[in-house]
Amino acid sequence: MDVVAVGRFYDRFAGLYDLVFNQVFQPGRVESIGAMDFRQGDRVLEVGVGTGLNLPLYPAGVRVVGIDLSSPMLKEARRRRRVADGGARIHLGQMDATRMAFPDDAFDFVYAPYVISVVPHPREVVAEMGRVCRPGGKVVIVNHFGSRHRLGHWLESKLTPVTQHMGFRLDLPVESVLGLDGLEKIDDRRVNLLKLWRLLIFEKQPTRC
Ligand SMILES: C[S@@+](CC[C@H](N)C(=O)[O-])C[C@H]1O[C@@H](n2cnc3c(N)ncnc32)[C@H](O)[C@@H]1O
Repeated sequence: MDVVAVGRFYDRFAGLYDLVFNQVFQPGRVESIGAMDFRQGDRVLEVGVGTGLNLPLYPAGVRVVGIDLSSPMLKEARRRRRVADGGARIHLGQMDATRMAFPDDAFDFVYAPYVISVVPHPREVVAEMGRVCRPGGKVVIVNHFGSRHRLGHWLESKLTPVTQHMGFRLDLPVESVLGLDGLEKIDDRRVNLLKLWRLLIFEKQPTRC
């Protein structure tokens, strides 16, 4: 699916999203946000904020910007933001993660929960996340990646043509987000049911002169 088709899919799916993906993905959201060593006033960018299921998990004192392609998903996120904290420290906007309208080094944390296997060009999105993260800041990804086991790999390759119509793929190799210039992997954990998802944390390295 291209970016427009992905956006259309989530536009149509917004009303049902929480019913299907709230509980099943929640342990990974809790662990990801718990793993971010926030300090007062930190700036967090959440890429693919969706219906805002992560928003109530942020501690007081951080400033969150959430972006998403889909305006019906964002409408749900705005509703949830009102419940989360009155909207004082959370800003939401429609934007494509492949080309973000933020300057370089703008955020302390850049977090993509369950987004990387949804976008058509995952590596470009992770590179863009790295661009807007400040040196010393963290890029955090929670996602399902393709299995290394033969049976798992076979199953994912059979199911992916079906799941792609549902807006995501199961067989994305983890290598597609590794080895990017300036992003050093500092943590790699298994999360969620049967530990089938991974939480990856990268630290952005200072630019060498
Ligand atoms: C599987 S949902 C994840 C939602 C949320 N992060 C969560 O924890 O449940 C993927 C979200 O990414 C958004 N998305 C997909 N491609 C995107 C892109 N290129 N730029 C911004 N958002 C995108 C979709 O609209 C959808 O809301």
